[in-house]
Amino acid sequence: MFQVLDEAARKAGAYLRQVRSRPVAASDQAVAALGELEEALPQRSRDASETLDLLDRVVSPATMGMAGPRFFGFVIGGSLPVALAANWLAGAWDQNAAFREVTPGVARLEELAAGWLIDLFGLPAATAVGFVTGATMANFTALAAARHAVLANAGWNVEADGLFGAPPITVIIGEEAHPTLLKSLGMLGLGRNRVRRVPVDEQGRMRANALPKIEGPTILCLQAGNINTGAFDPFEPLIDEARAADAWVHVDGAFGLWAKAAPSLAHLARGLERADSWATDAHKWLNVPYDSGLAFSRDARALSAAMAITAEYLPSKTEHRNPCDFTPELSRRGRGVEVWAALRSLGKEGLAELFERNCRQAVRFAEGLRAAGHSILNEVVLNQVLVAFGDAERTRRVIATVQKEGTCWCGATVWQGRTAMRISISSWATTDADVELSLDAIRRAAAWAPES
Ligand SMILES: Cc1ncc(COP(=O)(O)O)c(C=O)c1O
Repeated sequence: MFQVLDEAARKAGAYLRQVRSRPVAASDQAVAALGELEEALPQRSRDASETLDLLDRVVSPATMGMAGPRFFGFVIGGSLPVALAANWLAGAWDQNAAFREVTPGVARLEELAAGWLIDLFGLPAATAVGFVTGATMANFTALAAARHAVLANAGWNVEADGLFGAPPITVIIGEEAHPTLLKSLGMLGLGRNRVRRVPVDEQGRMRANALPKIEGPTILCLQAGNINTGAFDPFEPLIDEARAADAWVHVDGAFGLWAKAAPSLAHLARGLERADSWATDAHKWLNVPYDSGLAFSRDARALSAAMAITAEYLPSKTEHRNPCDFTPELSRRGRGVEVWAALRSLGKEGLAELFERNCRQAVRFAEGLRAAGHSILNEVVLNQVLVAFGDAERTRRVIATVQKEGTCWCGATVWQGRTAMRISISSWATTDADVELSLDAIRRAAAWAPES
């Protein structure tokens, strides 16, 4: 009955070996072959192996090689083998990770992983941690704690009474805040457009001297790691000013928060530990499988006030940490399992090595492309590189050629009015040889592209 699981492990191993050498993007033929999946819902039960075979034969080739070493689009990590293996085992356990009393094993792993993360990021010891699906939900969750706290200070219980008639909250963000932060604000009833935007410099960093005067219930949202440049807001002066005015400070550190875990990068994130809440992803730079994000709140009570529920049938009362007191979901998988496995297996040295290697590789990309005459648009401080190959049209042509050629995959962006190719290095699997191969492929694509 369980033979299909062994088969799946074998097929997964074969996929991961092959994804290192195949073109990164799915071929047109592979996408066309997805037509084989078109069928009515079968009347009769089918053999499990036959379904697994179909999945692997038809869908594996139609995937993007995000798990491979030369996918540099968006900000996407691979999966450390230990994290993937832990994910499989946790899948077999099939725990609903809501309550400590009911699922003591996964709840304990979350507690341990949370403690390690707090230590790694230098956050206050009593910080509460929620294991969510990604940075979008981490922002949402942490900002729900912020909303609770600033309104509670103004004598308003937002969970009980909602936002109708509540004291207005001022939300301050940088011009370069990630769009998912705005989405989170919208979902919380704080409005995507009701924000005060602070101008940024040429790297996308908030200008500390442009912060508006803070009055009344206020949430200031800062950023560690700009999606395009990798830049960090100047935390120290901004947090000083916010603290003096009693504002709540939130940091969106979807990938930048991990800089805290590497000695040569930690200076970039200096001071962010004095904020009130933080959001990051584990599925990006920690290289655990999708989907996995982390929300942190200095004030554990504010987070649980926003998230916890009780019901007669639920074992909510415990002296321990109940995982569901810190997440929007009640029922969910035990995402802490892979986070724990990745942290334990890499250790502090392995984590620092991963982040520093990827950043060194970003510098190598920038040097190699600059030497070939292309324009690097950002200061390469982290793992993001922006490169332009002339005007917008030519840059887009080079990107299309790179994607089609298949050695590596990079996406496009527009940075402060200039079209650029983004190279984002976030995978444990990327070796220096992969960088050289990719550099050659990009330089070839640029050499072929006709001038506009
Ligand atoms: C700064 C920042 N915040 C939030 C997000 C959203 O993360 P996710 O897609 O994991 O929800 C991203 C994604 O790249 C990001 O870079």
